[in-house]
Amino acid sequence: MLPSPLDHRLLFVTGKGGVGKSTVATALGLLAARHGARTVVAELASQERIQRAFDRSGGRFEELELAPGLFTISIDPQHAMEEYLRVKAGTLGHALGSSRLFGVFAMATPGMRELLSVGKVWELSRDRRRTSGADPYDLVIVDAPASGHGIGILRTPRTFAEIARVGPIAQQGQAIAATLADREFTSVLAVCTPEEMPVNETLELEQALRDCGLALDAVILNARYPERFGAEEAARMAALAGSPSADGSRGALRAAVSEHVRSSAQAEQAARLREGLRAPVLELPYLFCEQLGRGELEQLADVLESTLMTAGARDGRR
Ligand SMILES: Nc1ncnc2c1ncn2[C@@H]1O[C@H](COP(=O)(O)OP(=O)(O)O)[C@@H](O)[C@H]1O
Ligand SMILES: [Mg+2]
Repeated sequence: MLPSPLDHRLLFVTGKGGVGKSTVATALGLLAARHGARTVVAELASQERIQRAFDRSGGRFEELELAPGLFTISIDPQHAMEEYLRVKAGTLGHALGSSRLFGVFAMATPGMRELLSVGKVWELSRDRRRTSGADPYDLVIVDAPASGHGIGILRTPRTFAEIARVGPIAQQGQAIAATLADREFTSVLAVCTPEEMPVNETLELEQALRDCGLALDAVILNARYPERFGAEEAARMAALAGSPSADGSRGALRAAVSEHVRSSAQAEQAARLREGLRAPVLELPYLFCEQLGRGELEQLADVLESTLMTAGARDGRR
């Protein structure tokens, strides 16, 4: 059995840009695949970052297998619309899908890009896939755009359902909105770094989700520096770095002191996050390396696994 929150069909990973959403989404994907779940990580806004971490590239917007049981796809609204019209709407759909003018109008409709992207995500999460011959997934992990837009994606289907009221768009909007609001089916995570702005945004995101009837299930506090020294040790090192006797080790002492300063600042932000949040917080370490590749992603998956397992065991005992 998958540990929570992987025990859902649809998992949205949101957060401010650059905090590690794609990294965390992929590490979660690796973890789920290890547990035997056929998993797809869907990147919105075609960033194609995930494929690159695995040195893979496939056709754009196609499902691509990264590791056994782990797939990725880059979702593009235009492509999703063409696919939707082709499958759903027969000859007329074909004609509309290939009409540039229709495409331009559709894409200019506010929220249409989000609706099409989330519609494709929804399609990936179905037992019976609309795309012919496509196998179902046990878990769809969405690498959502930065939070402001991330919440747009989650809210859009309901907005469309309300505006259109009747007809196919309203119907589709309602079906997707119901899926997103179903907490058994859909889970929403936020990735955050222990810094002031990302912490603020994450606290705001939790509130914003609550305001539209959704909930934040957990926050992944990413890139946490290790706390290697106590305050006293740090003060001693700082004093030593300034003294003439430190000659050969001054550089190392300064580096240690600066890491300590950074880690203390992070600790403050982490505390502020925990205080202001209802959702549980899971931590991931900062990995000191030039670029995160497959090995590092597996390492993050290991950390997530042990954290989630411990949390699961604790909840089970309650
Ligand atoms: N835990 C971590 N340790 C070290 N580097 C990290 C960590 N998480 C993410 N990164 C690096 O930070 C950068 C941004 O991460 P990414 O996952 O692309 O963020 P986002 O998708 O939120 O924009 C990338 O270069 C990534 O390799
Ligand atoms: Mg990203």
